[in-house]
Amino acid sequence: MADKNSREGVRYQTPEIIKYVSEVHAGHDAALAQAFEVPDGIPAIQVGPSEGKLLELLLRLAGATKVVEVGTLIGYSAIHMARVLPADGHLWTIEFEPKHAEVARTNIAKAGLADKITVLVGAGTEILPTLVDKGPFDAVFIDADKVNYDKYGAWAIENLRKGGLVLGDNSFLFGELLDESDRGRAMRGFHELVAKSCDSVNIPTPDGLVVGIKR
Ligand SMILES: C[S@@+](CC[C@H](N)C(=O)[O-])C[C@H]1O[C@@H](n2cnc3c(N)ncnc32)[C@H](O)[C@@H]1O
Repeated sequence: MADKNSREGVRYQTPEIIKYVSEVHAGHDAALAQAFEVPDGIPAIQVGPSEGKLLELLLRLAGATKVVEVGTLIGYSAIHMARVLPADGHLWTIEFEPKHAEVARTNIAKAGLADKITVLVGAGTEILPTLVDKGPFDAVFIDADKVNYDKYGAWAIENLRKGGLVLGDNSFLFGELLDESDRGRAMRGFHELVAKSCDSVNIPTPDGLVVGIKR
């Protein structure tokens, strides 16, 4: 018999319910709709509308001005975040694939955010050290190659102001978080580093979002 205190296995989130709450709370305007529409040849691996809206709200709560993102894709999450920055705010976003970066720049310009967002092309591990002089930062959002999450997390902790936010998407690693793989070890390293340096939580979005406030 089911334990009345156990919710294990209970699934409240049907696709219809997710669609409904996304539309009510996180509807798209033209700029977001364009950046959500991934062209052929580019994978549709952007955050969902609710997660994009959550990023906006978290940055607003933190009073963020200077933000770094690792993993631009075509600019959907970048547009969400940059539009809540103040007039002197800036987002630096790093993308490995030149084609993704090119589409992102077009979407960002159409969103009227070209002066607020700098798209940097290259590997996160190589570009992040070049940004140190712009810091300390108010938030770092990590959403790129999972095998480097521990390195990205360490950079974030090092370069965030006290009270700054570290945010890491796909923190359940598509169900592979506990695997003995390089990605599994890197993602667990990220979780443990954030927990050690921040007040933190794992929000159970479809694939998990770590939120940490640097102590
Ligand atoms: C999940 S997508 C980012 C989605 C985006 N944050 C959004 O929600 O709109 C991950 C992106 O990271 C890029 N990427 C993969 N390896 C990378 C690396 N080593 N450095 C920087 N970007 C990388 C991929 O090309 C891809 O565009």
